[in-house]
Order: sequence, then structure tokens, then C-alpha cells
Amino acid sequence: MERTCFNTDLSLKDVNRHVKLVGWVSKKRNLGHLQFLDLRDASGIIQIFIPESLEVSDVRNEYVIYVEGVVKKKDVANKKLKTGEIEVEASLIKVLNKAKTTPLIIDNETDALEDIRLKYRYLDLRRPVMLEKLKTRALILKAVREFLDERHFIEVETPILTLSTPEGARDYVVPSRLHPGSFYALPQSPQLFKQLLMVAGLERYYQIARCFRDEDLRADRQPDFTQIDLEMSFINREQLLSLVEEMIADVYLKVLGYKVHLPLKKLTYFEAINTYGSDKPDLRFEIKLHDLTDLVKQSSFETFQNNKYAKAIVINNQANLTSRKVVDELNLEAKKFRLNNFYVFKVINQKLDSSLIKFFNDDLQKELFTKLHLKENDLVIIASSNNHENVCFALGALRSQYAKKLKLINENEHSLLWVIDFPLFALTEEGHLTSTHHPFTSPSEETIHLLKENPSAVLSSAYDIVINGYEAGGGSIRIHSQDLQKEIFSILGLNDEQIKRKFGFFLEAFEYGTPPHGGIAFGLDRLAMILSKSDSIRDVIAFPKTLKATCPLTGAPSQIDEEQIEELHLKIKKGEK
Ligand code: AMO
Repeated sequence: MERTCFNTDLSLKDVNRHVKLVGWVSKKRNLGHLQFLDLRDASGIIQIFIPESLEVSDVRNEYVIYVEGVVKKKDVANKKLKTGEIEVEASLIKVLNKAKTTPLIIDNETDALEDIRLKYRYLDLRRPVMLEKLKTRALILKAVREFLDERHFIEVETPILTLSTPEGARDYVVPSRLHPGSFYALPQSPQLFKQLLMVAGLERYYQIARCFRDEDLRADRQPDFTQIDLEMSFINREQLLSLVEEMIADVYLKVLGYKVHLPLKKLTYFEAINTYGSDKPDLRFEIKLHDLTDLVKQSSFETFQNNKYAKAIVINNQANLTSRKVVDELNLEAKKFRLNNFYVFKVINQKLDSSLIKFFNDDLQKELFTKLHLKENDLVIIASSNNHENVCFALGALRSQYAKKLKLINENEHSLLWVIDFPLFALTEEGHLTSTHHPFTSPSEETIHLLKENPSAVLSSAYDIVINGYEAGGGSIRIHSQDLQKEIFSILGLNDEQIKRKFGFFLEAFEYGTPPHGGIAFGLDRLAMILSKSDSIRDVIAFPKTLKATCPLTGAPSQIDEEQIEELHLKIKKGEK
């Protein structure tokens, strides 16, 4: 069984060539006395013409076959196929293997539920669209490797069985057989090791790193996922951002042929929140948040008078979207952000209309008109509360929902930007300080002096790269002084014993000549999802997990044998599987 080439290597230049092909039967068509089949291999589909002399009644969909024949020009080209101008007139068809009827349609369009697609993932991946996504993912990696290799980055693997790493999610843990009662943690990222590699003097490291996080899953989150992880010594933030954006522009060019304009726009965290209501704003559409705090305080509406913040978005031409049902839905959305309500105004006959209009005198209405540049049929949605972030995030969420619903996004555009100057610390619900990124992030030079008296006002040297409204990557310039690192740990409420137990080995390394350094990690899955225009990262992972962190194909997670439990010195609580 010697194959001449892949299906899609053939074109008009091969007419009259005798070829030997292999693949799967994608479709069989019987047009009276004319019979055809579509042969699919990893490269794509080619049409095979079956002359009457060949007996193929026992050849069915998804059978694996071998075809010999001659390439012919087709009278009418099929524009949907890369090989649409030609077909192969078969002289021999051999069945290499049979196939049962598949539980899902193997075509770009399938109506199979995701559970079935994941249970039979090997069939789902036969669908050409799915294979294309895996190819896109591989192309991204190839481009990244080429870019980093050329710039003297060294690819290093770091351990999977390790100690807890500090990215703030729950760890996946693995019990140790040899050390009863002790556990390895799977890495949430290679953060500590890549910094140790800087102490080791590598200067430029990268890794295509598997990471594991036990957190609530969403369309852009998987329990095990892959990072394009890198770290550099002797650089400052600007140098690092400029190298990384060059890398991503290179990926876009090589994978999509799309030119990213550099340097990328930079928004501070506060600008992003204030203007777009998100720390990962999609800039492909115009809607912005407007501050109305001072204006609406002049109204006689008590809520507006009492609340510290009020902001609004304007949706052009959607004054019709104010039915009871729509407003009820909006208010349900408001509750998710701990707001009582959204307040809705519309512009009809050049006048504002709202249940709140009685609280706004004529002058105030005019002011609102001018401030928001209102036009006929505009819809105004106001959020108001004493919590600034709730107001911003609520309107930010609406901003994205309307953009999707009203199709305001040009899907052929890509919005790439940096978000910088995050607060170094965030407050937990219990009122403790935690790291916004991770505790090795350096405070910004401009605000480090506030560390003692007002840590909440300290900004960090962290940066996120945001693509089309997704956080595609994040990193920071690191702390390289042991004293500063200890100070940060103590602000985070860790005592000496905890610091020593969790990070003793790490801090010790810092005593042996640590270079200034920084780095970043991209979510490879997210990048592949964006570049392949997929809705979920599950589509760009060969064998992903469901939103409940299960694998319908293998049945993981599963119970283990009593002996294994015993061997690992574990006990399962009664009544718990
Ligand atoms: P961070 O936690 O921001 O930073 O992660 C970096 C990037 O990894 C991706 N990501 C995920 N992708 C899929 N599923 C998940 N559960 C998931 N969690 C994160 C995101 C994110 O931007 N060590 C630091 C990086 C550094 O400081 O250099 C880190 O891991 O795209």
C-alpha cells in the first residue's frame, strides 16, 4: 500500500497522473448509474469517480480504503473543496478496514451534543473543522518556537509533581506512596521554577507548559491547560512588552496572515475599568462608559443623590428595547453585580422618556442630552451604587452583551492591547489583602513608597495582554530583593513559619545573586481559540474536560482499587464515592 501523496496535494497540474490514495470514506453518492465517493485524509477531501466496472456495494461511510486511479479534470468545479477542480477516476478500490455506523455525523456541521462529541472525540476530531483547529494550534506553537529560538531563549521543562505554586486557585494534589500523608501538588504554573532558572543564570527561558488548576470552569477555562511561558533577566517592563508584542504579531502574521499594528495600545487598569467596565475590554466596538455621578446627583431621585457613583452607557437606535420583559432581564443582570437595578432612559421625539423623568428638570435633561451626545432612538442605561467596581463591571457586562446581540463586532478585526498598572493588592471578602497577580510581582517604582502606610494604593508592575475581550496572557516584573519579598509576604499576612514552609527554598535561592527579571505566560488554549474563531477552548484541545471537569471519553475521574487506596495510605470517608 504505497501512497502517492496526500489528497490535497493534487490539483489541475496532476491531470492524467496515475495515483494511489488512502483515507476514510466521507460520503458515497449514487446518481443513477454514476457513483462517487468523497475520500478524506488528514489533508482534506477529494472526489473519487467509481466506474460501473468497480463493485463498491460493500463500501460504507468511514470505511478505511485504498484507491488507485487517474486524476481527471471535472467539467464543473466544486468551489467548496480545495481539490474541487479535479477528481480521481478509480481503477481499484480496496477496503483496508470496516467501520460501524458512527454516533455522530462526521462533517463540518454536526448536531451532536457536546457530551457525545467528547465521548467519541476521535470521531469528532475527524470532522475537518476540528482538525483545522488543531492545525492552527500547532502553527501557533511553531511560530512561537521559531521566534523565541531565534532570540536565544532556552526551552526547559519543569516538574509536574511538585510543591504547591501560588496562582491563587485550588491545587490538584497527588498522594505520595513512599511518604505516607504527604502530597505532591500539580503546578498551577511553572512560576517558581522559571524564576529559579533566572537565578541559575539562563537569562532567557521558555516552556510550553502544562498547568493544573482546580477552579470553576467556563468556556475559557480548563482544569488542565497549556501556557506559553517565558522569563527573561536584565530587562525592564517596556523591553519585555515590546519583545512579547513582536512575538504575538509574528504569530498573527504566520498563522492568519493578519498584520497587528505595533506598539500595542496600553490602558491602565483604572482607565480600562472606568471607560470600558472591564479589565479585559474588547475595543472592536465603540460603546463607552460615561460618568454621570455629578449630573444625576442634581436630580431629585433619592438613590442618585445618595449613591457615590453613577455611570451610563448609550446604545444607539435601540429605544425599542425597553419592554417590561427587557427591563426585568436587565434588572436580573444588575443583581449579579450587587446593584438593585439598572435605570433606563430612551430618546423619543427628541425628548427623554423614562419612569424617572419626573426627577429630572428641563435643564438637567438638556445637560444629559449634551453630555451623552444623545440622538433619536438612543437607549441610555444607568448604573448607580456606592461601589465603583460594581457599577463599572455591571455596565461593562452589558456593553459586551449588546455588542454581541446587535452584531457590532467586526469579526475580521482583532483587538489587542496591554492592561497595565493593576493594584498590587486586592481585598478579600473577609477584608484581607491578597495579591492581584501573585506575590512575586514587583510594586511599581512610583508607588512602592506607599507599601507601609497605604498598601491598597500601591500599583504593580504586572501586565495583561487582552485580545478580543479575553485575557490572553499575563505577567510581571518580579521582586528580586529578598527583603522586599519578605515584606510582601508579611503584608499578605504570612508569618515567618508559613513563609519558610511554603517558600523557604525559593527565598534561599534569592540569597545567591538574583538578577532583575520578569516574564509572562500566554494561555495557549485561549490564543488558539481566538485565532481559530472558536467559542470555547474545548474546541482547540484534543481531549478536553467538560465544565464539570470530567472526561466522557475515558471516564476520568474514576474510583481506584481498594489496594491502591491502601498503598497510598488514604481513607475514603464513608458514604463518599
Ligand atoms: P496567569 O494565572 O494570569 O499567570 O495565567 C496566564 C494565562 O494562562 C491562561 N489561563 C488559563 N487558560 C485556560 N484555563 C485556565 N484555567 C487558565 N488559567 C489561566 C490565561 C492567563 O492569562 N505564572 C503567571 C504568569 C507570569 O507571571 O509570568 C500565571 O500563570 O490566558
